[in-house]
Amino acid sequence: MAEIGKDIKKSAALLTEGQLVAIPTETVYGLAGNALDENAVLQIFKAKNRPKFDPLIVHLPGIEQIHNYVEFIPDELKALAEAFWPGPLTLLLPKKSIIPDLVTSGLGKVGVRVPNHPLTRSLLDLVDFPLAAPSANPFGYISPTSASHVAHHLGDKLSYILDGGSCDVGLESTIVGMEQGQVIIYRLGGISVSEIEKLVGNVLILPQSSSNPQSPGMLKSHYAPRKPMVLGNLDELMQQYQNEKETLAVLSFKRFFPELKAANQIVLSESGDFDEAARNLFSAMRSLDDTAASIILAEELPEIHLGKAINDRLRRAAAK
Ligand code: TXA
Ligand code: MG
Repeated sequence: MAEIGKDIKKSAALLTEGQLVAIPTETVYGLAGNALDENAVLQIFKAKNRPKFDPLIVHLPGIEQIHNYVEFIPDELKALAEAFWPGPLTLLLPKKSIIPDLVTSGLGKVGVRVPNHPLTRSLLDLVDFPLAAPSANPFGYISPTSASHVAHHLGDKLSYILDGGSCDVGLESTIVGMEQGQVIIYRLGGISVSEIEKLVGNVLILPQSSSNPQSPGMLKSHYAPRKPMVLGNLDELMQQYQNEKETLAVLSFKRFFPELKAANQIVLSESGDFDEAARNLFSAMRSLDDTAASIILAEELPEIHLGKAINDRLRRAAAK
């Protein structure tokens, strides 16, 4: 089993040797390796059981390093980087050849981001290479937002888990790029659409529910619990499943259902706060997945603030 601790020097030494270390970020935990070491990158795909057509995000210590790895950055995307880095934003930019093709699954663009977590920022300052890191979950399962989530599923596949507590944002980064002068959101995430549009005007949101050639890894069924999950209006769903109350688990935005077992329901934010709901989402899905219930009913949130991104994750979790 991987050791869990807060030792940045040890993490740096292991990564320098080509080993894998799980790292905390503000979004979710990442399964990190030296992005410039093809063998380390190969180990990441293997540990996650991840298909090689699903490219990895490269994590940098700061915007200053970006030109070592990308050919150029359009003004619009630079404005986003300056506003939101360090933070939950990934930019797709034309890669330099120093980034192995394996990292980008052969695509010409590389996803880069500057994460915002003190331990990982110190770690990135300590090593002299960027870190390739997908979310530290087995391919297809719910992303990890704590060190114990990582240990639970991948503990035997890596050397060390750098424990940075639970993730502040709780949703993966928003992935943004440009094609023919148009800013495109490829994956909804921790920075909301309206925050991005405030800076660069109208953006195009790619359909999030299918894989597409630009982002081959954004598969429909993802972030999924093992139990079946049904998404919709909770009043209607409760009506529909009224004869199965004993076997239900419920994930709601703001309210408890007194007629259901307390242990089988989780409220994401009693005050209806979208940031709090995002922070609790993945951990709540894991907890309900571990109950004795046979099905999870989940509530769609209003499509404002992070509601859009939360609904995207819920839809993928419910997709078959
Ligand atoms: O918040 C995050 O982004 C977290 C933390 C660890 O940084 N990382 C993360 O990585 O969510 P991952 O691998 O679970 O999801 C990255 C997504 C994949 O679906 C992949 O298809 C897309 O980003 N992606 C990465 N590089 C890409 C590229 N060059 N072109 C298109 N899509 C890319
Ligand atoms: Mg992932």
